[in-house]
Amino acid sequence: MNQGAPDRPSSDDLRIALEEVRAAGLAALAQTDDPAAVGSLRSGLLGRSGRLTALLREIAHAQPSERPALGRLANEVRAELEATLDDRQRVVRREALQRQLAAEAIDMTAPGRPVAAGHLHPLMTAEREVREIFHGFGFEVIEGPEIETDEMNFERLNIPPDHPSRDLWDTLYVAEPGSVEAGAPRPAEDGTILRTHTSPVQIRAMKALKPPIRVVIPGRCFRYEAVDAGHNFEFFQVEGLVVDRETSLADLKGTLEAYARAMYGPETRTRFRPGYYPFTEPSVAFDVGCVVCAGEGCPACQRTGWMTILGAGMVHPVVLRNGGLDPELYQGYAFGMGLDRMTLLRYGIPDLRLLMGSDLRFLEQFSDGR
Ligand code: DAH
Repeated sequence: MNQGAPDRPSSDDLRIALEEVRAAGLAALAQTDDPAAVGSLRSGLLGRSGRLTALLREIAHAQPSERPALGRLANEVRAELEATLDDRQRVVRREALQRQLAAEAIDMTAPGRPVAAGHLHPLMTAEREVREIFHGFGFEVIEGPEIETDEMNFERLNIPPDHPSRDLWDTLYVAEPGSVEAGAPRPAEDGTILRTHTSPVQIRAMKALKPPIRVVIPGRCFRYEAVDAGHNFEFFQVEGLVVDRETSLADLKGTLEAYARAMYGPETRTRFRPGYYPFTEPSVAFDVGCVVCAGEGCPACQRTGWMTILGAGMVHPVVLRNGGLDPELYQGYAFGMGLDRMTLLRYGIPDLRLLMGSDLRFLEQFSDGR
C-alpha cells in the first residue's frame, strides 16, 4: 500500500487553503462596488474553474479519514461565500441604481432652456397690424399674384397706354421666351410683368367675389427703380377695396380716419387732399400728423408736419365695369398704402435698403414682432 503517496494533498494544507480562500474572498468582496465585479468574483471563487471548486477536487484525494471534516469546512466556506456574495450583490446593485438615478435626475422645477424661435420681420409686423385693424372693421384678407399681366396691372385699372407708370423704366417686364438667349431681350408678347402695385387684385376681387365686397390685399410689388435710401425695386403695399350699393366718399373718409387712429393712436390728426389716380374718381391723398415730430416739422415729414400714408378714392366706373360690375348699381372705394415707408417711420430706420438686406444684426433689433 502506498500510504504516504506524494500526490495526496495534506489535510493541513487544504484547511489552510480553504481558510485563505474564505479570507481572501471576503476581503475582495468588501472592496467591490459594482455588480459586474461581484459577478466575476463569484465565478472566480465558486465557478467551474474557481478556486474553491479546485480545492473541493483536491479534498477528494485527501486522506479518507480527513475527508468528512475537510468537506464540512469546505461546505461552510462555500455557504459563507455564497451568502456574502448575495448580500454584496444586493447592496452593490442598489448603490449602482442610486448612482444612476442621481446622474439621470431631471429637475422638473428647473426653468426651460430658451428656444431660439426668431420673430417676424418688421415689415410683416406692420402688415399684420394693418390686417388686424381692418379685420376688426369687417374686412377679409385676400392675396393676388406677384406676376401679373399688363392688362390687369394697367389696362383694366383705366391706366392709359401712355401713362408714365407703364414706361419701360418703371415696370419690370418678363422677357419673351427665347429673346434673352437670342441676345435681344424684349417684353413678353402676352404682357407678363411683375406687378407694380397691388391694385390689379381689385379686379380679381370684383370678379371672384359678390358685393358687398370688403377686402384688404397685402403683397409684394416691383418697380424698375434706381435704388437709394428711399427707393427699392421691391416693396410692399396693402390695398383696400369696398364695393357696395350705397358706398360714398363719407364711408371712405370714416374708415380711413378710424384706421389712422387705430394704427397711430386716438389723438392722430388726419387730413384729405385732392389727388389723382386713373382708377379712382374723385381721388384723394390721405395724410396723418407726422408720427416722428407730432406735427412740429422734421426731416421725416419734410418740415410740413404731415405724412402722406396712402392714396385713395371712389372706384372709377370704368374699373367697376372692368371688374364685371354694373356702375349703375354699385359704388366702391379703394385705397393703397406703402408698408415700407410706414415701417421706416415707425422705427426711425434711415435707409429702406436695410429692410431687404437680410442682415441679422439689423433684423434682430425688432424682436417686438410676434
Ligand atoms: N396703386 C397706387 C400706387 O401704387 C396706390 C393707390 C392709390 C391704390 C389710390 C388705390 C387707390 O386703391 O385708390 O401708387
